[in-house]
Amino acid sequence: MEAERARRFAFASRAGATPLRIARSEGVWLYTDEGRQILDASGGAIVVGIGHGRREVAEAYAREAERLAYAIPPFASEARVRLVERLVDSWLPRGLTRVGFTSGGSESVEAALRIARAHFVAAGQPKRWQVIGRDLSYHGTTFATLAVGGHTKRRKGFEPWLADLPKAPACYCYRCPLGRSLPGCDVACADGVEAAILRAGPENVAAVIAEPIGGSTAGALVPPDGYWPRLAEICKRHGVLLIADEVMTGFGRTGKRFAVDHWGVTPDILVGGKGLASGYAPMGGIFASESVVAPVIEQGQEFMFFTYSAHPASCAAAEKVLEILEREQLVERAARMGEILGKRLARLLDHPNVGDVRGRGLLWAVELVADKSSGTPFPAEAGLTAKIVAAGIAHGVFVYPGGVDPARDVISFGPPFTIAEDEIELLASRFEQALESALARVR
Ligand SMILES: Cc1ncc(COP(=O)(O)O)c(C=O)c1O
Repeated sequence: MEAERARRFAFASRAGATPLRIARSEGVWLYTDEGRQILDASGGAIVVGIGHGRREVAEAYAREAERLAYAIPPFASEARVRLVERLVDSWLPRGLTRVGFTSGGSESVEAALRIARAHFVAAGQPKRWQVIGRDLSYHGTTFATLAVGGHTKRRKGFEPWLADLPKAPACYCYRCPLGRSLPGCDVACADGVEAAILRAGPENVAAVIAEPIGGSTAGALVPPDGYWPRLAEICKRHGVLLIADEVMTGFGRTGKRFAVDHWGVTPDILVGGKGLASGYAPMGGIFASESVVAPVIEQGQEFMFFTYSAHPASCAAAEKVLEILEREQLVERAARMGEILGKRLARLLDHPNVGDVRGRGLLWAVELVADKSSGTPFPAEAGLTAKIVAAGIAHGVFVYPGGVDPARDVISFGPPFTIAEDEIELLASRFEQALESALARVR
């Protein structure tokens, strides 16, 4: 594919840049048009769990597409029923037995917000409409999901369309927004969620939404151990639904099936996306308890679908992905390889511009700073993160950009769970080279 053709129809590419032209992918590798090999250190947008180039997923997709191109979501298809059974029997936290599908993360979060609201309307509590989100969070790019999210860069310019919803502080121990530190803080950030509920008035609050481990906004924000159990207790006490957004963390990414499993918490609604079909099909899901859905059903209310909800071929691809994850014990592998990746990245803490290294399983992030002792970031105009990503591609590794002030420059890592030890070493050494090249351009 010629550069001119690739550039011409890019929808709104940065400064008219030519997109990287990817011809194919295999394992943890992307291959460009010119045959260059790039290590996919972030599984795309932290999507690909089982690795690239799995023929059996492509075949499952093709078989189903041939058998049943499309059926409206209220109809049952064999592929969907099989996928639901596998999810409920083997994957979801116990108690989450109502399963809906969409085509991605944003749609799934939208659906979760809609079902939470529909629950309270049907249950005769129509005042409950507010949803508490958190700073430094991301839940999608539609207007409702931007509104509950705390990604200031992605919200910018759209504020007039975004409902003004309360935000609680992020769990961001490196720069604790409350100025506290572990262990003495007693997980005060969780109490920040309760404070937000009380400010809004619990009788007005439908739900709290949070990523169990913050994704790429500020980079792999792992909460203190007591955080999620406390959050669940607070929500329960105030009659508020707890929505865990596991679009990035779900389906093994953090070394457990779901990140909430690290703390034994079952939310009222869990949202999944990316890893569910591992990039092989556009797919997302919402998973709710019977008690969330019951009032809606009792009232005989419709819950409108998206046209491509529960698309048969996507369901077949997702089911095959889950089967592979189970058969090859890839969730356990994510935990194991994650330890190795984490240890290797932790060596970077000796670097004068690496402020923090954090993560769990195969979701890691490195935060860069200009001055380590004060934690001062590089100037925004330096564009350090973008320079690192570009240098990474030049050095043969794709790392995922993140960062929102005050976590200005963040690089995330989320390779396929199939990554081997020597590939982890290659990932880290190429990242180190990219970091030095980028720093040379901003110093
Ligand atoms: C936690 C979280 N929620 C929602 C989304 C939105 O998903 P999508 O881009 O598939 O719409 C993302 C995407 O990165 C995410 O990380």
